[in-house]
Amino acid sequence: MVDHAADAFGETGTGSDLIEAGRRLFAAECRFVYAAQRLDQLPTPVGPEVAFAGRSNVGKSSLLNALTGRRALARVSAEPGRTRQLNFFDLGGRLILVDMPGYGYARAGRAVKQDWQGLMFDYLRGRPELRRVMLLLDARIEVKQADRAVMELLDRAAVTFQLMLTKIDGIKAGDLADKQAETRALARAHAAAHPHVLITSSETSEGIAELRAALAELAEA
Ligand code: GTP
Ligand code: MG
Repeated sequence: MVDHAADAFGETGTGSDLIEAGRRLFAAECRFVYAAQRLDQLPTPVGPEVAFAGRSNVGKSSLLNALTGRRALARVSAEPGRTRQLNFFDLGGRLILVDMPGYGYARAGRAVKQDWQGLMFDYLRGRPELRRVMLLLDARIEVKQADRAVMELLDRAAVTFQLMLTKIDGIKAGDLADKQAETRALARAHAAAHPHVLITSSETSEGIAELRAALAELAEA
């Protein structure tokens, strides 16, 4: 069996200290603090923020639940377009996690879409407290034009983003290795991208400890 957890940290490796720091961070209580529907409703920043972005249905809300070990902290749905606001969660007063609405959902009405996707882009471009955008890509499917557009936007805005492959329970080990190599190349092609690609499954919890470790590096001490 391939050790995906070791793979996830590739060349850099994750020490057990960081894994422990991640475990401790996520042992704290995580509570919902705010949902913003418009830019002028954004909560006053209280500390570092990390946003989870990606196409509709990629698994952003599921990942938040897996990270925090709460089944229904963030609302999940098989139907794309579930999350329509920016949802802010406070993790032990050390890090704000932001569940974002998905982009690239073709069937949403144009007005609605402009509304919530416009909000997403405005937030990504203009939030000084935003430490990193975790940009989720479904390991089972191709990178789409909408993903490329967001990566370009983040490059232009100089907002650091980290690519993550989700739903790795749905892909064979060999295909996953190819996909990881491809995704690392994609990261290298973007100025604002973190070189390290994370892999996760919210179903099996694979890669979740490593993701917690990566987030612990961004949290308030
Ligand atoms: P929007 O809010 O619409 O943008 O979607 P989202 O990115 O928040 O996705 P959500 O977490 O709601 O999950 C979408 C669907 O994918 C649900 O049916 C989840 O059960 C499923 N899903 C999420 N994570 C995983 C995973 O790791 N593996 C598998 N197999 N399915 C997953
Ligand atoms: Mg969602």
